[in-house]
Amino acid sequence: MHIGTPLSASATRVMLLGSGELGKEVIIALQRLGVEVIAVDRYDGAPGQQVAHRAQTIDMSDGNVLARLIDSEKPDLVVPEIEAIATETLLQLERDGVCRVIPNARAAHLTMNREGIRRLAAEELKLPTSRYAFADSLEQLRAAVEGPRGIGYPCVVKPVMSSSGKGQSRVDAADRLEAAWLHAARGARVGKGRVIVESLIEFDYEITLLTVRALDQSGQVATHFCAPVGHRQEQGDYVESWQPQPMSPVALARARDIAAAVTDDLGGLGLFGVECFVRGDEVWFSEVSPRPHDTGMVTLVTQRHNEFELHARAILGLPVDVGLRATGASAVIYGGVEGEAIRYEDVDAALRVPGSDLRLFGKPVSFPRRRMGVALAEGADVDEARARARDCATRVRPVARPED
Ligand SMILES: Nc1ncnc2c1ncn2[C@@H]1O[C@H](COP(=O)(O)OP(=O)(O)OP(=O)(O)O)[C@@H](O)[C@H]1O
Ligand SMILES: [Mg+2]
Repeated sequence: MHIGTPLSASATRVMLLGSGELGKEVIIALQRLGVEVIAVDRYDGAPGQQVAHRAQTIDMSDGNVLARLIDSEKPDLVVPEIEAIATETLLQLERDGVCRVIPNARAAHLTMNREGIRRLAAEELKLPTSRYAFADSLEQLRAAVEGPRGIGYPCVVKPVMSSSGKGQSRVDAADRLEAAWLHAARGARVGKGRVIVESLIEFDYEITLLTVRALDQSGQVATHFCAPVGHRQEQGDYVESWQPQPMSPVALARARDIAAAVTDDLGGLGLFGVECFVRGDEVWFSEVSPRPHDTGMVTLVTQRHNEFELHARAILGLPVDVGLRATGASAVIYGGVEGEAIRYEDVDAALRVPGSDLRLFGKPVSFPRRRMGVALAEGADVDEARARARDCATRVRPVARPED
């Protein structure tokens, strides 16, 4: 394994497809190892584009445009950071040996659609999941929920293609089903109209098990598990996370078995975020990201190698260390305001919270529910870390217009 010199003929070149806050940290990790990085996004000035060697702005869901860009940049590795990309094109380019896709094109393709990954996990790998069905119309949805052996209420309706809770709703009774259907159609990224409906799991807590597939000394793939990350979601979007989440030995072993089964099947090298629901010793698989996970931002203050460094190392064929260094937490900083070029007031006060740190993503446009930054904190225990991270987050005050 070698790394070349950036911006030269020997460069080790990596292209990020999607350059948001998670991509930005992956790019920083790659930059530190002397990798040449091309940051691609759908808009100019995306967080990762601000720290890469080159920025490219294209519609990544357009296969022809994507193939042309890959042909002109000739990256050694293509690293998807988001789900909404032309994965059919990646499958073709990988088959033709044009580039290596991380972890591989099939994994990117399967996980972009909830149907692909759910059928794989539940029907092929026989992993425990919520009960589920798919529907293409309100009538089909109603039959799936209310029919014989139907999912029943309460249930959760989600577009098959969406992330961060977009278009997702919990439905407690029949008279709210139509609203959920319409909400899903509006929140769908592409392929409007197809939804998954799942039975609601009454979990005690939910986790992301960050799982790394990396090469060992003999060149074989080995699977490593980070300490479980606990998190809290509001309207399907992550608002805070912490690590480690205490788990019973049985539940932890089950979560690891689930993560190993899914990541073995998806294959390739890199870090995966395996989401599970836990009640007592029972564990259900929910979904998996074949890339760093938003709830894993907490690892920026808790692990010897954070999830972004782990991903960078694993995809390059380098050794990884998933060891925990500290107990910590993260809390999301939302835009709160609408506008371009907003300002963040009281950053100094925020960073006076003991054990805290901050990431401001530098997004050019803010809106109230947009994730603009994250507060991080170490603590003596999870409660202290969470309190500190929340305190740090709320002290940061985004303002729409410069107050001159
Ligand atoms: N069947 C379910 N039972 C209980 N809670 C659920 C269920 N499905 C989703 N949720 C809740 O909604 C959250 C978001 O769901 P999910 O992870 O499927 O959506 P997402 O849009 O892909 O989110 P993200 O992309 O941010 O991970 C879950 O983390 C969980 O809190
Ligand atoms: Mg999720």
